Amino acid sequence: MKEIKIVLKERDMPRKWYNLAADLPGIIEPALAPDGRPITPDMLAKVFPMNLIEQEASLKRWIDIPEEVLKILLRWRPAPLRRAVYLEEYLKTPARIYYKDESLSPAGSHKPNTAVAQAWYNKEFGIKKLTTETGAGQWGSALAFACNIIGLECKVYMVRISFDQKPLRKIMMHVWGARCVASPSNETSSGRAILRKMPNTPGSLGMAISEAVEEAVRDKTGKTRYSLGSVLNHVLLHQTIMGLESKKQLSLAGEKKPDIIIGCVGGGSNFAGLAFPFLYDKIHGDKIEIIPVEPTACPTMTRGPFAYDYGDTAGMTPLLPMFTLGHNFVPEPIHAGGLRYHGMAPLVSHAIRDGLLSPRAYDQVKCYNSAFIWAKTEGTIPAPETSHAIACAIEEAIKAKKEGKKKVILFSYSGHGLMDLTGYEKFLSGKLSKYHLSEKDLRASLESIKKFPKIRIRKKA
Ligand SMILES: Cc1ncc(COP(=O)(O)O)c(C=O)c1O
Repeated sequence: MKEIKIVLKERDMPRKWYNLAADLPGIIEPALAPDGRPITPDMLAKVFPMNLIEQEASLKRWIDIPEEVLKILLRWRPAPLRRAVYLEEYLKTPARIYYKDESLSPAGSHKPNTAVAQAWYNKEFGIKKLTTETGAGQWGSALAFACNIIGLECKVYMVRISFDQKPLRKIMMHVWGARCVASPSNETSSGRAILRKMPNTPGSLGMAISEAVEEAVRDKTGKTRYSLGSVLNHVLLHQTIMGLESKKQLSLAGEKKPDIIIGCVGGGSNFAGLAFPFLYDKIHGDKIEIIPVEPTACPTMTRGPFAYDYGDTAGMTPLLPMFTLGHNFVPEPIHAGGLRYHGMAPLVSHAIRDGLLSPRAYDQVKCYNSAFIWAKTEGTIPAPETSHAIACAIEEAIKAKKEGKKKVILFSYSGHGLMDLTGYEKFLSGKLSKYHLSEKDLRASLESIKKFPKIRIRKKA
């Protein structure tokens, strides 16, 4: 009989996070201040606590996970690795499909892995309150959960379209004691400025980030900081526990290595968390195809340039070297709210630049079709974000069948969709649109980055 659940013992949970910055083959471009000079740690000190800023800049390959953080993670970790045998049978594929099940965390996704770590480091630094943005509500609820356990106040700016489409997420945040408002809001000057220009905007992650950063830096007591659920190096670092556990689990399942790794991508942390520990092996000679998947409505990696851009709409963040659609880009209101981000994690962007990843984009109708196949075979209902990874896994399993190859496919089941059922309802009633970004809109959006410094191609000495 095929083994379906590969479960690690609690004592086998990884004790260190993996930092890809130590191993990337090409030069890592620095983040820049508005005057074009590389930023220094003190410039970020009003936004993040210094212990996390140090992690952000670290080039150490392994970083210890604090004991207290491990203790909290034990509530749901190690997360099971499962084999999708029912999907394999349905597809009649010779491929073996494994998925890392991150849907069992308290908030229902991978996000608490970093929420707990960030809340812990902030508390250690003497911070009392965290502000943040959230798209689908997954990150906001994860941070609300973590702040509640660790004893911090929490304020969440939720992208307007998701605030309206996903009221249940807001209730979760309230249960964990956080305050959640729709963004753009009247609570910040950047929110008010956006509302004056675009009163009916569905909002975007970029806008919500501007509001959350503004609230953190304006606190005169110095006890509020901002927390980001993706994109930054330290966030990706905290998520590598997913890939490190998966390595041990694949080996328990008798697999030497995966042939294909897949993750859906918003800001990049879910994908990076699973893929980076395997990217280490790829850099050192293993043959693995690594595929980050994004929506065609927000095709950052597949159609955007690698360029300097702000991480938010109002220009409060440093200029980050990343694939981007322009910081003013407002994606169509697709249901995968957590994938509606104009930029991409710099570390993921650098790995694409170095030719290590093969990004893809899918429209939401294809993704919901795949989610339905999943729900009818494996039984669980995935988050709309996760359905992008499932669509890719199905595509690759069918390809393996055509080629007659017994490939090992591993993907991240980043979250469940039980709070996101409106998209499923729309799909069932035939009301879901495909959305492809037009060339004209892409060009118009990229106007906003024309004035920024350009990234020169440099070789490592
Ligand atoms: C279920 C789920 N999967 C994936 C993502 C994308 O996450 P990341 O920003 O880490 O790429 C999100 C973002 O909210 C999410 O909620």
